[in-house]
Amino acid sequence: QVIALDHLIADKGQHRHFMAKEIHEQPTVLARALGAWTSSDRNRITSDAEHIDWSAVSRLSIVACGTAYLAGHVAKIWLEQIARLPVELEIASEFRYREPPLPRDGVTMVISQSGETADTLAALRYAKAQGQQTLGLVNVTTSTIAREADVVLPIHAGPEIGVASTKAFTAQLMCIALLAFMIARKRGVIGPDAETTAIDVLSTIPRILSEVLAQENDFAALAAQISDATSVLFLGRGMMYPLALEGALKLKEITYIHAEGYAAGEIKHGPIALVDEHTPIIALAPSGPLLEKSLSNLREVIARNGRVAIIGDAAACQVFGNEAWHCLAIPHVDPLVAPFAYAVAIQFLAYHTALCRGTDVDQPRNLAKSVTVE
Ligand code: G6P
Repeated sequence: QVIALDHLIADKGQHRHFMAKEIHEQPTVLARALGAWTSSDRNRITSDAEHIDWSAVSRLSIVACGTAYLAGHVAKIWLEQIARLPVELEIASEFRYREPPLPRDGVTMVISQSGETADTLAALRYAKAQGQQTLGLVNVTTSTIAREADVVLPIHAGPEIGVASTKAFTAQLMCIALLAFMIARKRGVIGPDAETTAIDVLSTIPRILSEVLAQENDFAALAAQISDATSVLFLGRGMMYPLALEGALKLKEITYIHAEGYAAGEIKHGPIALVDEHTPIIALAPSGPLLEKSLSNLREVIARNGRVAIIGDAAACQVFGNEAWHCLAIPHVDPLVAPFAYAVAIQFLAYHTALCRGTDVDQPRNLAKSVTVE
């Protein structure tokens, strides 16, 4: 199958689906995005967003839909932690009709792969009408959002054909991480050494993703175990919470299995009622300060006969492997790298579950790549 996109011809190469091709492209895409956002000596982050006086910005509003909204969820965590910038995050269809008061010294950033999503575009226009500066983090740089935003931030992912977003999500994350460190520098929160160190850490991502990609068969085996489920829960804490939401979204989009993502600490406030021996629970649990907390939540689930599959690292599997139904270890990574590595993990899980179920991976029913109507 060959799809013509204006002047671009996209083909699947040796892959069965565009989604598989786009998952495997991520090391290349992320190296390209990093290169485009940094100086040639790799010491400094360069972006048109530098021209904003970030030390005078009181608040950033991030507005998006779907997977781009979940990239915004990661952005909120990083921008608040790294740059100490207060962030408000909202789904575009809610934001535009809520008509929130926006301070003139605030900035709005919309995130959109296509740059054409109707609600996201309306949110951008609303923020502009309120007198705010606007940023558009987009993949398609000829899009309406790219034309209308004050500052265009390209993610350099290349054409994404699979309806379920994969490489655009991780490219959004790469640019957001760089944006967070650049804003931190401009706000005087970090010095030049911390910026260089961050670039060095982010430079390891293509290699680490290649290692996770080499584990595709492990994910296919886990996918085979969950493919007959009618409902799957994804749990995560901290940075793994938005990844759990994205894991559930990817799974429901392409396999039609009901899936929900939850903050691990919230499970006792409702979803634990769903737990039985038929419901797989995918816990995203890398080792780190939050692991013990996640494990105590998971033990509550296991005590109720829940089928807990952990995706973690070797240390997490060592602590917990015997108690869990499955424990799939991916490389131990720096916390800044974790969202990228776990994004590939959940993409593979959804993709291989869809293969087991025989659903249409690239064109799932009822979904559109770009939603240009309300
Ligand atoms: C649709 C697509 C999703 C995408 C969302 C937002 O729902 O199926 O994959 O995340 O739109 O699209 P955008 O182009 O604004 O990122």
